[in-house]
Amino acid sequence: MEKEMIERFQHYFPGNNEEIRLFFAPGRVNLIGEHTDYNGGFVFPAALTMGTYMAARPRNDREFHLFSESFPDEPVSFSAGELHFQNEDRWGNYPKGVVRELLKNVELSGADVYYYGNIPNGAGLSSSASIGMVTAFGLSKMAGKPFRTLQLAKLIQHVENNFIGVSTGIMDQFAVGFGRKDHALLLDCSTLEYEKVPLVLGNYRLVITNTNKRRGLADSKYNERRAECEQGLEAIRKRKKDVQSLGELSIDEFRKVQDMIEDDKVLRRVRHVVTENERVNLARKVLQKGDLVVFGELMKQSHESLRDDYEVTGPELDALFNAQKAVKGCIGTRMTGAGFGGCTISIVQNDVISKFKRQVQEAYEKETGLAPVFYTCEIGDGVKELR
Ligand code: GLA
Repeated sequence: MEKEMIERFQHYFPGNNEEIRLFFAPGRVNLIGEHTDYNGGFVFPAALTMGTYMAARPRNDREFHLFSESFPDEPVSFSAGELHFQNEDRWGNYPKGVVRELLKNVELSGADVYYYGNIPNGAGLSSSASIGMVTAFGLSKMAGKPFRTLQLAKLIQHVENNFIGVSTGIMDQFAVGFGRKDHALLLDCSTLEYEKVPLVLGNYRLVITNTNKRRGLADSKYNERRAECEQGLEAIRKRKKDVQSLGELSIDEFRKVQDMIEDDKVLRRVRHVVTENERVNLARKVLQKGDLVVFGELMKQSHESLRDDYEVTGPELDALFNAQKAVKGCIGTRMTGAGFGGCTISIVQNDVISKFKRQVQEAYEKETGLAPVFYTCEIGDGVKELR
């Protein structure tokens, strides 16, 4: 990979070889704990071995020239003095927002940057947190002022919230920064304390299935869900003043205050968050005991709650879910990420993976007319420098 990256970089930005640095940030998959992060709850993501590679060479004119292999017709350039969000910069707004934030803390001299990513874009596997992290990590290191990983994760979340305009939580940025090979991260989003839990899969593998449905309007619906949760919290606080976030509520506590929420839709949103949080806690316990079957059951319950109470699945994710859970040897499956399209994650017995793919493809195509794409995924490390 290193050699190809350098060659590609030199193709677009010919010049000195010695000064080229190479970085990588993964994508992530969330095993369970969806739409809980911005509610101060628990999440359970893992970093993928798929991700974004970035080769970069410093410039000395405070200009940034970016090329991405995923968007070959859309090279982006900007200078440190004009860092505004611009629709025509499309994907380039992510690195631009990162440069803008970095400049508040560190002097950047400019750079030529080449990206190669192998995570499908817009599929709910955090291609945006990945490009954000690799850019922030790489450029800050090149400037001789490396940041702490948590600081980087918060910086990228800030860019996503304030520059791009999606009110995401911290899960993606955190997983992409702190991921560890063959481990999932149990993260408490209210304290940002986390635990690395070994993913011992034995005869099973994790399989990601992409619906190949573009996530149209996903950002506005995401922000809408977030606002509904805030509405729910506000209603609950009229009785239980000390509650800071929905993630603090146990199911019993929720039952005692649920009558405060008049709007049925808001009530269902809150119920999802509270029950999902409980599922993550159980999932961590059963994973530590090596009980993948119960873990898989919790995944299915998570999907059902996201479908019925949180309403972020949609026909494509539901079609995959139904097809996947019908395969003998698939012991757990659910949508992963924000929803509204994107991917599912399943736990599948090693020797039925081919059958799983065949059967799911057939059922899914029949139902939706779309072709799914499968990735048998490996769990890798967080952001790093490669050269
Ligand atoms: C997106 C956001 C995350 C999280 C998930 C849903 O991936 O970026 O912060 O809210 O959706 O769990």
